Amino acid sequence: MAGRFWTYQKASEKYILKLATRPSTRLSDHQVRIAIGAVSLNYRDLIALKNKAGRNVDGRVPASDGAGRIVEVGSAVKQWKVGDRVAGCFFQSWQSGRFEMRHHKQDLGGTIDGMLADEVVLDENGVVAIPASMTYHQASTLPCAALTAWYSIIVRGGLASGQTVLVLGTGGVSIFALQIAHAYGAKVVVTSSSDSKLIRAQRIGATHTINYRSNPDWDKAVLKATDQLGVDHVVETGGPGTLEKSMNCVAAGGQIAQIGVLTGFGAPTCSLFPLVARNVRLDGIYVGPRDAFVAMNRFLEQKKIQPVIDRVFSFEDAPSAFEYLESGQHFGKVVISNEGNNVS
Ligand SMILES: NC(=O)c1ccc[n+]([C@@H]2O[C@H](COP(=O)([O-])OP(=O)(O)OC[C@H]3O[C@@H](n4cnc5c(N)ncnc54)[C@H](OP(=O)(O)O)[C@@H]3O)[C@@H](O)[C@H]2O)c1
Repeated sequence: MAGRFWTYQKASEKYILKLATRPSTRLSDHQVRIAIGAVSLNYRDLIALKNKAGRNVDGRVPASDGAGRIVEVGSAVKQWKVGDRVAGCFFQSWQSGRFEMRHHKQDLGGTIDGMLADEVVLDENGVVAIPASMTYHQASTLPCAALTAWYSIIVRGGLASGQTVLVLGTGGVSIFALQIAHAYGAKVVVTSSSDSKLIRAQRIGATHTINYRSNPDWDKAVLKATDQLGVDHVVETGGPGTLEKSMNCVAAGGQIAQIGVLTGFGAPTCSLFPLVARNVRLDGIYVGPRDAFVAMNRFLEQKKIQPVIDRVFSFEDAPSAFEYLESGQHFGKVVISNEGNNVS
């Protein structure tokens, strides 16, 4: 059997996407073969395509996030059977515990081939069962965006009911953080460049909304919304251009989950002293381990949380999905469907 797959192909300083086919390879004893039903995109995939981080991905299959059905299992696989519905783990080797640098060699769609293909072969420990109530489209959004939000505020942050969370913008990570925090009984402050997106955020639980474009002093607005106390947790997806304001409006003893680079890879120009003065914890976050993914899926199922999908593109139209993500028009997730692919 041959399957289609997309790859990054070097084109001067950037990459373009190229569609190709490849024959199926034989499974080793501990591998599973997955027919992919859907893939979702993350900002990271744009960073790779646009070569913003200077990482060599020439010939690599893009995308960490995908879900599908197991169609074959290796001879020693006991935990999975044909027909099981699964998603891949962002870091194939990070099962639990603290992060170790060796996991950088095992990130789907980065150092190793990702999910933007008809079929993918992964180690049996590199997948998790998806929530039974979710479609492949929905489950494809979980491995990076949802797990990053979960790991940031729940596992590392220890979020408690009644606390406050600030999320920056309305992209994939932020909207999952909003949904998860809201389901935990937290109050959530959401910023966005778009008033219409802020209305959508209110509909799914945002307590306070701030347009960061029309209100450049959004940190002051966050303080006002929290009786000058600041927020207990910041889901910091902005990076160097937003960190100073995040530090200004985090509560004493709070946490900043340092996640993103939406404002670039440069160094922040601000003093870090507010972290000290406020006894704030600055947590570097890089997605999360497999056991946290399993726990998160249980929570999403219990709370009936449905991922917010903005738009779905066909497998053949994958380059348009990347362009749409780059336009920043989306609210939540952008998905690439491959449902004709023997997955139901
Ligand atoms: N460390 C990790 O484990 C990890 C995991 C996932 C993502 N990330 C990083 O986190 C960031 C978000 O990723 P994503 O996949 O969620 O992105 P995304 O879905 O593409 O979200 C982009 C959205 O971010 C908002 N935004 C852009 N510039 C902003 C700014 N200056 N201030 C506030 N909001 C801004 C915009 O929302 P509005 O349109 O509402 O303004 C934009 O639509 C990226 O830098 C990504 O690389 C890191």
